[in-house]
Amino acid sequence: MFDISMEDNYIQSISLEYRKKYAQFFPPKQIAKIMAKWLLGNKQMYSVLEPAFGLGVFSKEILTHKKNIKIKGFEIDENIFSVSKNHFNNNQKINLILQDYMYNDWANKYDGIICNPPYFKFHDYDNKNIIKEIEEKLNCRLNGFTNLYTLFLLKSIHQLNKNGRSAYIVPSEFLNSDYGKLVKKHLIKTRTLRHIIVVDFEENVFDDAMTTASIILCANDSNNDKVQFTNIKTVNDLKQIEDIISIYPKRSAQSKTYLIDELDPKIKWKQYYQEQNSIKYKHLVPFSNYAKVSRGIANGANEFFTFNLEKAKKILNKRSVFIAVYMQVCQC
Ligand SMILES: C[S@@+](CC[C@H](N)C(=O)[O-])C[C@H]1O[C@@H](n2cnc3c(N)ncnc32)[C@H](O)[C@@H]1O
Repeated sequence: MFDISMEDNYIQSISLEYRKKYAQFFPPKQIAKIMAKWLLGNKQMYSVLEPAFGLGVFSKEILTHKKNIKIKGFEIDENIFSVSKNHFNNNQKINLILQDYMYNDWANKYDGIICNPPYFKFHDYDNKNIIKEIEEKLNCRLNGFTNLYTLFLLKSIHQLNKNGRSAYIVPSEFLNSDYGKLVKKHLIKTRTLRHIIVVDFEENVFDDAMTTASIILCANDSNNDKVQFTNIKTVNDLKQIEDIISIYPKRSAQSKTYLIDELDPKIKWKQYYQEQNSIKYKHLVPFSNYAKVSRGIANGANEFFTFNLEKAKKILNKRSVFIAVYMQVCQC
């Protein structure tokens, strides 16, 4: 059974600062169930990989439905690794490895890969070396600002066996950002992308990390001509996703369906899953007709540049408060 108390205990015993350092946030039970269900749809699934194992929420869910299976998990943090190691102590089906997923295991393939990867921006991880590793191994080009979670995703897709399936939960940012263009291009090239479910809940369901996320479902099978997009707003809508997953490879009429060759990696994919207000206006012109916007240097030192009023009053006079606020805006 899904063990909620293990996550709760961990959250209570470890500081938020530490969890942030390793991006240790846990998906809610309903989401884990849906993602596991996608993998379980592959009836020939005997090997599973959980690349950012943490406390193994997904693996536990899979094990409740499938006994004849081997699971491998990677984890980089010794602390959470030992909690999981103790928990799964006698479980012969789970092999936990204390290593960086990005630099290991390239030669192995799996029938199912399920993951809630770390969300680190380019300045919070060794982006140069990891991006180089991915570019070489996958023979693709990537943007230097690429967030780590998309690199996890691309590596996992490469590691799918024939008919293998992967389910990732990631921030939606890459679908609409500049660095995401090359990631989307590679996703299209692999023809493994099947469904993007954009979860845009009004309430925070992701254990203080985020309110919007995307569930990316991929499969290395021959049903590779179409991609579906679904936008969900409430926990009740998750039932709709379960239905969509259970009828695959049939497509649901409730979702927006596109031919994979019709998807354009260069545009914001928002327009594939969200109603576009701009269609209602007739005389819009691009903002670039009037002004140029360029981004300042981003060094990630937000704590240094962020001032609350108290801090500002303490160290700065009125004029420099303005400078500090201006610098902060430039950082964002
Ligand atoms: C968002 S959490 C995943 C939580 C997990 N789904 C669970 O059920 O507990 C991400 C996990 O990946 C680990 N991690 C971060 N970077 C990693 C890396 N390069 N390789 C392997 N694990 C990593 C973090 O320590 C953290 O436990």
